[in-house]
Amino acid sequence: MCVARILQQNCVQCHHAGGIAPFSLEDITEVKDRAKTIRRVIEQGQMPPWFAAPVAEGAQNPWANDCSLSARDKADLLAWLSSADRPIGNPADAPAPLKFTDEWSIGKPDLILQLPNPFDIKAEGFMPYQFAVTETKLTEDKWVTAYEIMPSVREVVHHVIVQVHEKGSTARARDEGAGGFWAVYVPGNARQIYPAGFARKLPAGSTVSFQIHYTPNGKAVKEQMRMGLVFAKTPPQQEVKTFAVSNNRIAIPPGASAHVETQSRHVTFDIPITSFMAHMHVRGKAFKYEVTSADGKTETLLDIPRYDFNWQLRYNLKQPRLIPRGSTLKVTAIYDNSSENKANPNPAKLVKWGSQTHEEMMIGFFEYFTPVSSAEAAMPLSAESEEALRARVVALFGALRAGDIAQCIELSDPAAVKKHGKDKAEQFFKSISDRARLAKLAAGDHAIKSITAGNDGKTARVEIQVRVGGQWRPPSTDVWALVGSAWCYQETLPK
Ligand code: HEC
Repeated sequence: MCVARILQQNCVQCHHAGGIAPFSLEDITEVKDRAKTIRRVIEQGQMPPWFAAPVAEGAQNPWANDCSLSARDKADLLAWLSSADRPIGNPADAPAPLKFTDEWSIGKPDLILQLPNPFDIKAEGFMPYQFAVTETKLTEDKWVTAYEIMPSVREVVHHVIVQVHEKGSTARARDEGAGGFWAVYVPGNARQIYPAGFARKLPAGSTVSFQIHYTPNGKAVKEQMRMGLVFAKTPPQQEVKTFAVSNNRIAIPPGASAHVETQSRHVTFDIPITSFMAHMHVRGKAFKYEVTSADGKTETLLDIPRYDFNWQLRYNLKQPRLIPRGSTLKVTAIYDNSSENKANPNPAKLVKWGSQTHEEMMIGFFEYFTPVSSAEAAMPLSAESEEALRARVVALFGALRAGDIAQCIELSDPAAVKKHGKDKAEQFFKSISDRARLAKLAAGDHAIKSITAGNDGKTARVEIQVRVGGQWRPPSTDVWALVGSAWCYQETLPK
């Protein structure tokens, strides 16, 4: 047994000088000084911070970034902490200390985006979400293979949601990534390095917005963060994206100790998922991701039985999980609005959706990828059949706007309608149609941006842009269901 090894593998990445944790555990005397607290947090499962339900015995652990202690390490560490003398052993046997740098851990960035002005962080109390925008000034599209978010004062940054806004679209502070995010900073996870062939797109002329949750920490400081980006040397095969299943109609009654809200989304496109992140505020108690396949089998993808607002963790899969077209994704959130919840600012209040911490949110983020439209990935279509597909999609838009559900079904892939049943298809188009009309899209206000081959080579993906306030942009959350590229317009190619 080697206590130093256990701490290095599970604690020191955060608990080092200058790290995100409030104290270092690099030196064994520091550990001995805090033995009692350490024992408590380990016994209570509070540290290391990992909140997914434990993997069933004998089952494979699907998580790439599971930082929880193995049963053996936990027992060994607790035994040592409880021992009378807490022996240090022979220092020569200890592993070499880990090295940490203040520099970029992703390598030298090709572009560093810095927030235009520092934020003033108060010494005490509570701060509403801050919002800042920076221009990329890029003259051509770039593929980003790694990013790292580097606060100037790490201790006061709780989490950051970064979004990219295509040229001409406006960055708005209000939605906190309810439709997805481009990059994220969460405690213990400031960067992302994508595997070879995978990248995120940063379009020419785009702007980047940062939504930042600061937590004052005893000393007034100025904080000005940067994001470092590494560009791909060769074009990637897969584009990494994020989508969200969110529910902005939540209403949590006063005093409720386990109020349940759910939201489902039908998947009309094969979607390989690589990572999850659940977002609620201080009344969040538990969160679950499930998938129901077309043949009715339900499986849990991620269960967070004890959600903790302080830890907006990402849960990264070792292997992408393919969710086949025809499945339904469901997220379930449980809230504790009772006085038993120590973090609850006001148990007497009916709580609804809002970005401030005294309001609530319910967002299940999914990270996934789709093939990049390159020469090889381009759909093997003749010009005529692409024209035909275009015409069909345009007609489908018309039918959706008109609320002509029968016509929508007529224009969709007959095999898909047969597979899911006509009732399901009706339900699906009805909900999209309602939203299309809600978004008040006029006939000329959407355009097909690209048509690319689906993952299976038999289907096509139609990417849409919408015109809002006279400007073209990718779909916002309001019209997402209508035009969401990965969702509605997966069309079977005409033979
Ligand atoms: C992902 C980063 C991370 C990892 C890994 C991590 N910690 Fe922490 N730890 C923190 C942060 C941040 C805090 C302060 C916030 C809090 O208390 O929740 C903290 C707080 C603590 C505290 C004080 C808790 C209290 O109630 O006062 C102890 C003790 C602790 N950690 C021990 C450990 C040990 C032991 C490990 C490894 C077995 C570990 N931590 C792993 C980030 C981490």
